[in-house]
Amino acid sequence: MGKKIKVGLIGIGNCFSGLIQGIEYYTQNPSQEVIGIMHNKIGDFSIHDLDFVVGFDVGDNKIGKTINEAIYESPNMVNWVPKNKMPKTSAKVYESPILDGVGIWVENKINPIKSNKTDTQLTEEIKKIIKETGAEILVSYLPVGSEKVTQFWAQICLDTNCAFVNCIPSFIASNDEWGKKFAAKNLPLIGDDIKGQVGATIVHRTLARLCDDRGTKIERTYQINVGGNTDFLNMKEQERLVSKRISKTESVQSQLRKRLDDDQIYVGPSDFIPFLGNTKLMFMRIEGRQWANIPYNMEVRLEVDDKANSAGIVIDAIRLARLALDRGIGGPVISACAYLMKHPPKQMSDPDARNELEVFIKGN
Ligand SMILES: NC(=O)c1ccc[n+]([C@@H]2O[C@H](COP(=O)([O-])OP(=O)(O)OC[C@H]3O[C@@H](n4cnc5c(N)ncnc54)[C@H](O)[C@@H]3O)[C@@H](O)[C@H]2O)c1
Repeated sequence: MGKKIKVGLIGIGNCFSGLIQGIEYYTQNPSQEVIGIMHNKIGDFSIHDLDFVVGFDVGDNKIGKTINEAIYESPNMVNWVPKNKMPKTSAKVYESPILDGVGIWVENKINPIKSNKTDTQLTEEIKKIIKETGAEILVSYLPVGSEKVTQFWAQICLDTNCAFVNCIPSFIASNDEWGKKFAAKNLPLIGDDIKGQVGATIVHRTLARLCDDRGTKIERTYQINVGGNTDFLNMKEQERLVSKRISKTESVQSQLRKRLDDDQIYVGPSDFIPFLGNTKLMFMRIEGRQWANIPYNMEVRLEVDDKANSAGIVIDAIRLARLALDRGIGGPVISACAYLMKHPPKQMSDPDARNELEVFIKGN
């Protein structure tokens, strides 16, 4: 395998736009410390060793463009590096099957392509493109609720010998059967549902654990999130949210010695406020009791640019997937999943997951 990591992108939305523009930001500002990654180098790889060789989407305005053009197309709204300052690339965006990727609220924003290809034609075309571009890791940033599309791409990974980084809450790495299929083909799998660097879930689970570790009794807790991008618009469709709720809720529950009753915990994206754009607001409350049954509560309001929040974590996941590929390790990379993802095959505390992952990186 080459010095660069050849990465294929699935779903060229705001998250990939931020990830790619962020790398370019650091290229143009080499004296800046890179913020939001585990290490400058993982194995031999820095953030500049990622080569985005191919992309897949369904947006009529993205297909056929190069990746560096498509990341600026509507409804994407990240604009950290002006489009005319972005270097040219020859890597193109190709058509993906729509399946269940496009929800009712976002359809008129995405404007999905009216395909004239059969599923079989499209599948064969995709496999051929992946072979030609030499992609070795596919990364999915599909919309929430894309169950069938995620499975389609997991199967493509198996058929084309690619590792898979699954950033969304459709369960592949945390599904035993898929885990075994990737293990059988010796292909690394890192998923599911990327954590933010300082995102709503990591803050919530850390504070819940603190209250638990300090011996208080948590009685109930909620976390509400609002935002103004297509991710939040898409999540207005409650039916698409089943696995997202499981992923976020279990991420908090897993940190408590005793689970809260289901009706005493609410974790979820709650609404779309258009003028917020990529700003995400999180409101969290924990209520509990201390010594002599005396009540306490805490509230947190977090305001973040959602697209600056997961990019570094995904770049780490890509470099770790390549490390696993180089070492011939297949199946879910347990410590990487636990540290980087909300719904891993095995939940750990964040410090334990970090320690195990550092051991993995060192190759012990
Ligand atoms: N901090 C974070 O931003 C964060 C954290 C965890 C998970 N996520 C998840 O990452 C995902 C991506 O977020 P985003 O803000 O980039 O979303 P987005 O809506 O901006 O982008 C999704 C992209 O997927 C494309 N798409 C839709 N159906 C498709 C299909 N069938 N095949 C290929 N592409 C398809 C859309 O056209 C769009 O370009 C979401 O599921 C989000 O919940 C984000």
